[in-house]
Amino acid sequence: MACETHGVKNISQTPGQTLGQIPGLQISKAVLRWYDSNARVLPWRIGPHQRKAGHQPDPYAVWMSEIMLQQTAVASVAPRFLKFLERWPDVAAMAAADIDEVLGEWAGLGYYARARNLHKCAMAVMREHGGKFPHTEDILKTLPGIGDYTAAAIAAIAFDRLAVVVDGNIERVVSRLFAIDKPLPGAKALIKQRAGAIWPQQRSGDFAQGLMDLGAGVCKPRAPNCPACPLAGHCAAQRLSRAEDFPVKPATRPKPWRKGAVFVLVNAQGEVLFERRPEKGLLGAMLGLPGSPWADKPGKAIAHAPATTKWRFAGAVTHIFTHFHLTLEVYIGKTPKGFRRAREQQWLAPKQARLPTVMKKALDLAQTTKGFEK
Ligand code: ADE
Repeated sequence: MACETHGVKNISQTPGQTLGQIPGLQISKAVLRWYDSNARVLPWRIGPHQRKAGHQPDPYAVWMSEIMLQQTAVASVAPRFLKFLERWPDVAAMAAADIDEVLGEWAGLGYYARARNLHKCAMAVMREHGGKFPHTEDILKTLPGIGDYTAAAIAAIAFDRLAVVVDGNIERVVSRLFAIDKPLPGAKALIKQRAGAIWPQQRSGDFAQGLMDLGAGVCKPRAPNCPACPLAGHCAAQRLSRAEDFPVKPATRPKPWRKGAVFVLVNAQGEVLFERRPEKGLLGAMLGLPGSPWADKPGKAIAHAPATTKWRFAGAVTHIFTHFHLTLEVYIGKTPKGFRRAREQQWLAPKQARLPTVMKKALDLAQTTKGFEK
């Protein structure tokens, strides 16, 4: 019976859909068959043929990729993942790394708490688990930076454990398959439950990655390619010709704008003054330019200048964060005689500074401003 070969029990029924009507076994077989011939080649992945030939994924590589992929697209992650693995090839190397080096290598990937947790998690795996990643979701979740999604992804992909993995791609595939008309984020529990109803006990990791690839390449947010979909015959949204209506998005409020200023102080060697940002908060522990707090109604920027000198306005850059838009004014000045940097500040040649994207935009603007090095 289909239900017995699918791992997650106690699935409650919703009106119009009884458990018996979900052909879980057919669905999982169709996804796995499709994955066998359409799997993307990704640097952290042991593909279906390698897996069948007995190759096992490296849990460290799976963990690293999943942390990087939490908020960043596959195409941006791939080259950065390879660089991280080359520099820190195993969990022991990552645990022994200098955190500032890890943050520097992470620069530009955003959501910097992930990099700090990467380092903390590696240390915890060494200290508490003898250098081996735990296999179960519950124990994985006790580690820094590993939440419900990441624990399930590591358990399934690295260890082939039955774990229901729901990322953005899988959320879309499942909400279309069952035409779930409840808006996100409220629908998340139901989507996970529905995913559980089709999850196979065998090849859990391949099934997760098959659904991910299906979402990325076929069941796309816009213009899904339903005729090419292995689940076409099962998909409620396709039957209704309404695939693009799912998942149902919540009503969105416009993001507020905040404003701030940064100061590019240049010394006689053409170096720029940078400072390490506080550990807590946005861009925590990353290198940045000194400046004012970011606020809806900012006060006088100049009160936050790192030195008393003649500051010239170079222009402004904008950046979009998760919860707000930012306009950052950029000022340039020459170092006055007798200036002494604070302890958290350092002089660096602009090329040497590994900056978060918003700070890089500000520095790039300053560098293209006439008279930068005069
Ligand atoms: N997104 C998150 N994890 C992924 C994976 N393992 N493969 C492809 N896309 C992903």
